[in-house]
Amino acid sequence: MTIKSVWLDFLAVSAYPRVQFDRGCREGDAPMRMSYNRALVTGGAGFIGSHIVEALVSAGCEVRVLDNLSTGRLSNLASVQGRIRFCRGDIRDRKRLAGQMDGCDVVFHEAAVVSVPLSVEDPVESAGVNEEGTLYVLEAARAHQVRRVVLASSCAVYGNDPQLPKHETMPPAPESPYAVQKRAGELYAGLYPKLYGLETVCLRYFNVYGPRQDPASLYSGVISVFMAKAFLDEPPIIFGDGTQSRDFVFVRDVVRANLLAAEAKGASGGIFNVGTGVGVGINSLWQAVRRISGCRREPDYAPARPGDVVASVAGIDHAAATLGFRARYALEQGLETTYGWCRANLGTHDGPPFPSSTEHGLT
Ligand SMILES: NC(=O)c1ccc[n+]([C@@H]2O[C@H](COP(=O)([O-])OP(=O)(O)OC[C@H]3O[C@@H](n4cnc5c(N)ncnc54)[C@H](O)[C@@H]3O)[C@@H](O)[C@H]2O)c1
Repeated sequence: MTIKSVWLDFLAVSAYPRVQFDRGCREGDAPMRMSYNRALVTGGAGFIGSHIVEALVSAGCEVRVLDNLSTGRLSNLASVQGRIRFCRGDIRDRKRLAGQMDGCDVVFHEAAVVSVPLSVEDPVESAGVNEEGTLYVLEAARAHQVRRVVLASSCAVYGNDPQLPKHETMPPAPESPYAVQKRAGELYAGLYPKLYGLETVCLRYFNVYGPRQDPASLYSGVISVFMAKAFLDEPPIIFGDGTQSRDFVFVRDVVRANLLAAEAKGASGGIFNVGTGVGVGINSLWQAVRRISGCRREPDYAPARPGDVVASVAGIDHAAATLGFRARYALEQGLETTYGWCRANLGTHDGPPFPSSTEHGLT
């Protein structure tokens, strides 16, 4: 197998401005060796998956995507058109899954029903994708002698435990079917190294934001909704007093965490937070969006939504020690890049439409 050397900051040569280093970040990561040639990204037409696909393609990897386009878009993959093997299909279609998996060394499993409210509305349907579908992915990986599967989990598994920061050793306390399903995926993944010798790594993403996050869907990420509101020069709605806080991690950092997780020695069977370790209040977030966009609107406030978590911040030591991952993008920098994308794409033919709702998800 050919060994390809790839500099971790390959991002610097992509369409994004060069990164500056955030608090606690290491400058000049050593070159990362990618020891695989072929990778499958499930959910690769989605927000996070499409960024992983782009990174893998820039690194010279042969990339396959399996996505049913339920929330993903082909336009998210425009920059790699003709350079990947895309299959429109469901991860529960075992024949299609096997076809895309065959010959792959690594799988990045991003496909999921990501909406918490949808999982509350129809827990059976979302469990079919998030739980059973994940099991199909693991089983196909086992059958096709894949070396490692990196799975997208979520900080939602921590639930409302007030302890901060959230450490991977805390007992999970899921508060929604979505969180239960993500936890089930982690538990299944944890069995595969022991029972079948298939390496697995679970990444608990905190609140991911960046270009291509769709503000139009109900309960979109709060940053994508704020960006769209600023772009339209409309006030956003903040639920509660706005003092609730989240750990917002830029999508390019999440990509790096995935690439590291695919390689890191001693990581198999592990679960790792992917966040910045910094909590940002929702009021401060809107002020930052105002500074970047020039929007002068003050937010409207609405009653707090039942079940909204008050504060969420990732403990980042485990990922730093074992994966060598620390977030590099400062919030302002990530927001600037994201706002640039919004300006260029919102409401255009290929981009997402304007939001029809002011709801936003704050899982
Ligand atoms: N965005 C966040 O802040 C966040 C936070 C925590 C965890 N996650 C996890 O990260 C992953 C990616 O999320 P995202 O934000 O990019 O969402 P997304 O909706 O943009 O991406 C999910 C992709 O999966 C595809 N998909 C859904 N069901 C499928 C199925 N049955 N078969 C094949 N493809 C299917 C969708 O079409 C979409 O392209 C998900 O697993 C999600 O649970 C995201």
